[in-house]
Amino acid sequence: MKIIFFDSKSYDKESFTKELVNYPDIEVKFLKTELTPFTAELAHGYDAVCAFVSADISNDTIEVLNMCGVKLILLRCAGFNNVEMETAKRFGIRVFRVPGYSPEAVAEHAMALALAVNRHLHKAYVKVRENDFSLGGLMGMNFHGKTAGIIGTGKIGAAMARICHGFGMNIIAYDVFENPSIKDFVTYVTLDELLAQSDLISLHCPLMDNTYHLINRETIQKMKDGVILVNTSRGALVKTDDLIEGIRAHKFFGVGLDVYEEETPNVFEDRSDEILEHSVTARLLSFPNVMITSHQGFFTHEALSAIAQTTLENVRVFEKNGESPNEVK
Ligand code: NAI
Repeated sequence: MKIIFFDSKSYDKESFTKELVNYPDIEVKFLKTELTPFTAELAHGYDAVCAFVSADISNDTIEVLNMCGVKLILLRCAGFNNVEMETAKRFGIRVFRVPGYSPEAVAEHAMALALAVNRHLHKAYVKVRENDFSLGGLMGMNFHGKTAGIIGTGKIGAAMARICHGFGMNIIAYDVFENPSIKDFVTYVTLDELLAQSDLISLHCPLMDNTYHLINRETIQKMKDGVILVNTSRGALVKTDDLIEGIRAHKFFGVGLDVYEEETPNVFEDRSDEILEHSVTARLLSFPNVMITSHQGFFTHEALSAIAQTTLENVRVFEKNGESPNEVK
């Protein structure tokens, strides 16, 4: 089995190389270039491509992959909205993903963002480095006794609920399905009730047609004044223009974003020498109560190692022509 990795970073290489000692029959090539219709022909002579969430696995790409003889697309991520599944099916190319590599990694990052904007850690860090030991602008609130509203209580939302429970928060949640594993300390409510009652709102539902711009002018108006909003799920869950309007109207105590609508050209790139002209991101970054990180929720040793393990297990399933819940149908 020969696999070509696209958009591979040093940490991908490290985590996969460690796991590959258990798979001596698998030969890999790591490429820095992203998988697009223009780079897909680099897969010539390989059985499989391994790509990340930002790859362009559209019709054109899949057609080239098919001509190259590729039979397997390995996504080393959970999301698969970047793959044109009908085309992959038409060519008999199987697609596997890594659905739940480390829910705690993302949930812990969501809480880190919530804590950072609550206690103004981004400002405090800079102040103290400048020998400014005053407390002006650093007032926060206790999370203990406050209400956390979790939207989407799957693997990551449930992990976030457990963390909030540990902080002594009251936890309410909104989901289309209730998760029995957290029922002892979570109360399910309607979305409107969640918006009206929560001091901290954390988004953990997937991006789908019915969750696109779930957070918009209307839903923001239903939130408590002084709410903290955290999004570690997908950028387009939040309508950024409406969020900016809400921030300017002092609706939010703080906003923590690991994902945002305009992130695609930025994610995992060093653009520090560039000027982000006319950018919504630049507008968001101008607010003192907003903290943005660049899609790093998943980025822990444990998560990367789980991604490598599951991806290589997916190869085994493919080789045996077996069935797996990790296959995207
Ligand atoms: P999951 O599939 O275990 O849970 C998603 C939950 O959302 C389910 O309980 C589902 O019923 C619920 N849901 C679906 N439609 C909904 C709606 N209309 N309203 C409310 N809830 C709804 O997914 P998991 O593993 O917890 O991941 C959640 C999201 O986290 C992913 O979709 C992905 O976008 C994001 N993610 C972010 C990462 C990062 O690095 N920042 C890494 C991995 C995932």
